[in-house]
Amino acid sequence: MLSDAQLVQRAFDMLDRSYVPYSKFPVGAAIACGDGSVFTGCNVENAAYGSTICAERTALVKAVSEGHRDDLERIAVAGNSLDYCWPCGACRQMLYEFNPGMTVLVARSDRSFLSFPLYELMPHGFGPKALEQPD
Ligand code: THU
Repeated sequence: MLSDAQLVQRAFDMLDRSYVPYSKFPVGAAIACGDGSVFTGCNVENAAYGSTICAERTALVKAVSEGHRDDLERIAVAGNSLDYCWPCGACRQMLYEFNPGMTVLVARSDRSFLSFPLYELMPHGFGPKALEQPD
């Protein structure tokens, strides 16, 4: 199993794959699953700017589409940024669906990183349980 630092490195390794002609802001992500598998992602932008997909959601849909729903344990997010590369609201929401307790590692250009459980980045989030209704 990869250490947190190794998972962060896998996220940094994805920066070269980012397609960022508009923002010039590459982001990389790497998700570690319970069985040791890792799914990586990068941001992929589009001339219709709103169609852009973030690195985290790229990695997430790769993991889910390969059968990983219940064992998404950690995600690392990396950018060549001064600040830690915080996941945007849409990515937090998509990750919350599968595991509010997922560990989120946010890294910055000096390679340092911080670790949070997702529910701390998204308190009182709207997840599958929130759709439950009385009979
Ligand atoms: N971006 C991500 O890939 N992940 C985030 O959580 C924050 C933003 C991307 C989207 C866009 O391609 C670029 O960073 C600038 O917003």
